[in-house]
Amino acid sequence: MTDNPQQYHALQAQLGLRHGIPFTPNWSAGADFMRIIVDACLQNRPKQIMECSSGLTTLMLARCCQINGVGHVISLEDGLQYADNTRGYIDRYGLGDYASVIHAPLQDTVVDGTNYKWYSTDDIPEAGIDMLVIDGPSGFIQKNSRYPALPLFHPRLSEHCVIYLDDAAREDEQAIVTLWQARYPELKHDFRVTARGCSILSR
Ligand SMILES: C[S@@+](CC[C@H](N)C(=O)[O-])C[C@H]1O[C@@H](n2cnc3c(N)ncnc32)[C@H](O)[C@@H]1O
Repeated sequence: MTDNPQQYHALQAQLGLRHGIPFTPNWSAGADFMRIIVDACLQNRPKQIMECSSGLTTLMLARCCQINGVGHVISLEDGLQYADNTRGYIDRYGLGDYASVIHAPLQDTVVDGTNYKWYSTDDIPEAGIDMLVIDGPSGFIQKNSRYPALPLFHPRLSEHCVIYLDDAAREDEQAIVTLWQARYPELKHDFRVTARGCSILSR
């Protein structure tokens, strides 16, 4: 069900993406996760969107911002070829005002006393992130691969920021959410049953 073509086509048609989408089976975010973040973006009209890992998510969120007439996606991508590929789609659709893909190779980063491979960039907003989408780094590279996202971004989130974690049915992502909630008890957690699981956190 994750890569259900009809669900992707429905999103593609809704957003008017007639010139193709950067879809890669098993690597692109699932269509059901995409549906959740697209609906949220169109409804909440976030001004600053931050995302970990670029691709289909970047293109669809950028198009939502264009439809909304407001918003910008900053996407961190560790793989140069994936960053270039996403930029190509952003250019193809004339969405350069709505998304920036930052090539940020992973580097050793100590977070809460543990060393992680994490995106190397200082080029992220100081404050005011309204939507945080976490679909990288890849889970296989290290234990609790996406844990750093919240400790590193938390001081930069707006009061009403909503956080979307993909692959949340995995053991690591469940452990990550437990650790985040222990550290930030004000966070409410809403788990959505999708093919890979989606955790939504908000204050
Ligand atoms: C789960 S993918 C998600 C990418 C993006 N959010 C999307 O929906 O298209 C996470 C990361 O895997 C890497 N990746 C993407 N496609 C890949 C592939 N075919 N093989 C290996 N790694 C890939 C990229 O670095 C990407 O940032």
